[in-house]
Amino acid sequence: MEALIETPRLIMRHFVETDLDALALSMANPDFMRFSSGVFTREQTTSFLFERVIAPARAGLPSQFALLEREENRLIGYCGFFRQLVDDVAEIEIGYRLHPDYWNRGLATEAARVVRDYAFEVLQLARVISLIHPANHASRRVTEKNGMTLEKETTFRGFPTLVFSCARTNPSS
Ligand SMILES: CC(C)(COP(=O)(O)OP(=O)(O)OC[C@H]1O[C@@H](n2cnc3c(N)ncnc32)[C@H](O)[C@@H]1OP(=O)(O)O)[C@@H](O)C(=O)NCCC(=O)NCCS
Repeated sequence: MEALIETPRLIMRHFVETDLDALALSMANPDFMRFSSGVFTREQTTSFLFERVIAPARAGLPSQFALLEREENRLIGYCGFFRQLVDDVAEIEIGYRLHPDYWNRGLATEAARVVRDYAFEVLQLARVISLIHPANHASRRVTEKNGMTLEKETTFRGFPTLVFSCARTNPSS
């Protein structure tokens, strides 16, 4: 599968079926799954990968990209889009998870920036959001470094959630 986006340290591409083993390992890791409903079994990762990631991407809908660390060509997580219903409004969320071996090197920020640009320049979206648990300080920093601002606090899937957002500056561009 060819690269869709390249950054100095990352290759981003669509997920494929053969990513299952690597993704299942990550999704069984409690650190990778922090601030979620918990670790995934291989079966849960299979549904996530095939139904929530690959199927929408193949239908031409915004989805998550596989993140590969360039030097090792290793799948280290994902960054991209989830379609969410927040307070009854359909939104496109930028989401990300990275293997803990790669935290605090600026990699999530490097990925989130190009994903935000992709949202506005390629997908021509008017706005994107990020949904963040108030105690998830690292994710909040990534979102802030990505130029998003706090819009409101709400309850999402039963959890207190900060809604960060960012609008395309020039809608006609
Ligand atoms: C959130 C996550 C993607 C961040 O990835 P990352 O590659 O480490 O992020 P970056 O290195 O680009 O930036 C992290 C920032 O958070 C800061 N940070 C990290 N841990 C922190 C903490 N406990 N308190 C405050 N700031 C923290 C870092 O210092 C850095 O900010 P800085 O550049 O101003 O110093 C990663 O921690 C992760 O996958 N966590 C588990 C899944 C998750 O929470 N996903 C987000 C769901 S909304």
